[in-house]
Amino acid sequence: MNLLNKIIKTTMVSSLVTLSAFASNVIIEPLKVETITLEAWDKAKEFEITLYPQTTVKFNDKKANELNKDLKTKTAYIKALQTNSEISFKVVWEDKTKTIQKGVANRQNSFADGFAIQFASNYEDATKLPYIGMGSKNRPVVVYLQKAVEQHFEPNGKEEISTQVNRNNTYAFNDSLKQFDKKVEALAIKDYQRAFISEGFRSMTQIKDNSTFFNAKMQYKENFFSSNIWEGEITRVLKDEYLKISSKPFPIAIAIWDGEKMQRDGLKHLSSWITVSTNQQEATKYQQSMDSSLLNANIKNGENLVKTNCASCHNYKDENNANKYMAPNLSNIGGYSTTSYLQESILEPSAVVVPGYNRNAHKNYEWYYLDGKNRVSTMPSFSYLSNKEIEDMVAYLKTLKVQGE
Ligand code: HEC
Repeated sequence: MNLLNKIIKTTMVSSLVTLSAFASNVIIEPLKVETITLEAWDKAKEFEITLYPQTTVKFNDKKANELNKDLKTKTAYIKALQTNSEISFKVVWEDKTKTIQKGVANRQNSFADGFAIQFASNYEDATKLPYIGMGSKNRPVVVYLQKAVEQHFEPNGKEEISTQVNRNNTYAFNDSLKQFDKKVEALAIKDYQRAFISEGFRSMTQIKDNSTFFNAKMQYKENFFSSNIWEGEITRVLKDEYLKISSKPFPIAIAIWDGEKMQRDGLKHLSSWITVSTNQQEATKYQQSMDSSLLNANIKNGENLVKTNCASCHNYKDENNANKYMAPNLSNIGGYSTTSYLQESILEPSAVVVPGYNRNAHKNYEWYYLDGKNRVSTMPSFSYLSNKEIEDMVAYLKTLKVQGE
């Protein structure tokens, strides 16, 4: 099977530390089918993508920070199917430990494995995509989030299905057990299977009405070609009021949480924007405008420029040159950002504003102020630098990311 080969291949390749600074140009090609079936999934092509630890803000949780201190990249394998009315993505990733959150009562100290697929609501201009971490003001994203949470059905208020029937007592239950399971399936609280429309973290709105259709699921497979994997699937309609998928290329991003490492919210692995299209030629054009070539850039010069202009506010490469509350940590910015996003961040900081820490708790380190309804970044624009200097800095920022799994 593909996956096994790829797991072996990736392990070998990652030890070679390939020159992958600019190699985020995967294009996912959905297979067009009449209906979504297992056979169709078998035929669909598999694409390999890399996810990076999101390091934008530092979590205020010692134990979680300790567990996540040396995170490397994660590899996910993606397939896509498209019918006349729906699109479906299957995401597979390795996770040695299955972590399921039990019940709602334990949410404070019990964490779940999970994944999300994010779509840009407006995606025609690949140089103006939303902030990768859950969108940004005026550039909303639609996010489908699925976490491995034990289904609970609460006719007795006890939260866990398993405590409510004695499954071994088949004599007493037998047929009624089947009925009970059906009832559970219909009534269970699948509380972490959600669709959101989001304009930046902490401004997410759950889509609760029937204005769209989506379906999410997760399945754990042990000893699947000698590794343990999660297989997640998200299906949505091609068109609804939040997002219209046409024949044009569009971008998605993937996030993965590892409950074992107490990951939640922004503590996760995140991909960059990835182009999806059934038309290779158009997809390549789209991809190139999102991630323009930096082959002529001088990375060393970029490093010097970043040191001079940016290091007083931003931490990167594990160096604690700045106060951590000042600005986003850029240690993995090259992994989950496109070149056009980096260019825009430097030239026009207020185009996309990262919300930052809780503004009430860290009043001296606000990342933006409000001008009427608009968020204005506290980062100055560097548009006075030459195009070449900007390009050199972007090329250097693209190298900022951890390697290997
Ligand atoms: C005065 C402090 C300051 C300086 C100097 C500064 N920045 Fe920023 N930067 C910020 C703040 C605050 C934010 C978050 C708000 C925003 O998104 O604009 C930010 C955001 C960013 C982002 C988006 C980060 C993300 O996670 O998406 C990038 C990229 C960036 N800066 C790069 C740079 C570069 C490159 C330089 C130097 C040329 C620089 N910054 C100089 C304060 C600063």
